[in-house]
Amino acid sequence: MKNYEIKRVNFKVFRFNVNLDKSPYYESYTLEVSQDDVVLDILNRIKWEKDGSFSYRRSCRHGICGSCAIKVNNKPVLSCKERVFDLIKIFGYELVFEPQDIKYAIKDMVVDKDRFWTKYNNVKPYLITNIETHPKEETVVTQEEAQMLEESDYCIQCGNCFYSCPAVQANVDFLGPAALLKAFRFNTDVRDNAKIERLNIVNEERSGVWDCVKCYECAEACPKELTPIDKITKLHNQIFEENLAKDNVATRHAVGFKDSIIKHGFLDEGELVRYSEGNVGVLKHLPEALHMLKNGKLIMPWQMPKSKNLDEVKKLVDISSTVKFK
Ligand code: SF4
Ligand code: SF4
Ligand code: FES
Repeated sequence: MKNYEIKRVNFKVFRFNVNLDKSPYYESYTLEVSQDDVVLDILNRIKWEKDGSFSYRRSCRHGICGSCAIKVNNKPVLSCKERVFDLIKIFGYELVFEPQDIKYAIKDMVVDKDRFWTKYNNVKPYLITNIETHPKEETVVTQEEAQMLEESDYCIQCGNCFYSCPAVQANVDFLGPAALLKAFRFNTDVRDNAKIERLNIVNEERSGVWDCVKCYECAEACPKELTPIDKITKLHNQIFEENLAKDNVATRHAVGFKDSIIKHGFLDEGELVRYSEGNVGVLKHLPEALHMLKNGKLIMPWQMPKSKNLDEVKKLVDISSTVKFK
């Protein structure tokens, strides 16, 4: 017979009812947890054994519907997949349960996801194609063509990446990683006819791909191990390939980055800022630049060293480049 290990854990749980409470508060529940328990088991026990008014979302219990996502000690988790014992290993015996974004909490773990779904809908997350009303044969998608989607089809719209993204927090207009991943998914589908339409949407300044700061939080947060940032980079490439890139700070940053590596084998950070922001724009960074210079953190463009493996670096850039900027 299986020998169950049991641990006593204190769960500090975010509580808030938008219709009754002036401000949120935290309630503590101490429960005995077994090695098989996932976070959803604890949410269920709080509701069934402690307080029937406690609210949270769940449906499939199999990591498919994406509805049970919350944060534990600020780590985004899918409640029905995350084992409590694994969380104890990271955070110890006090676990804090909070909704994905406390600013949008409606009731306990339930957040208003309207912002997430609106942005998701903005990228036209569906197949747009000419449908043959009476097709004589099926539309065959080869294995190679299906692989081009790179598992972006496995997204369960849980929103963990969206609510962990610093660019979403800082900029209300940014579409966010889940919507952009979905734009990549349909743009890469060989049956779809709306690639340019979608690229024009994701190429918009402030809301599109250029506002991603490449921090990889979305990849860390995804319970399906998808990497939305990689798909965002591929959307950058599609924009250049289709000649839709506009002359702005972000596109000049991409061009300047590649030029710097080809020229030196290293990144010339000072020149990259000047190239991206222009001679006038660079002036606003003067205080930081002087501070960096004083501390030996900035090399002037004329002092930039060259990599001794520059020819090798150039070959690597050439092999790995999928688009020509100029
Ligand atoms: S890599 Fe980009 S999309 Fe992903 S979390 Fe960071 S800013 Fe957001
Ligand atoms: S990309 Fe991952 S984290 Fe983001 S919504 Fe899809 S499944 Fe959730
Ligand atoms: S309940 Fe459906 S993913 Fe957790």
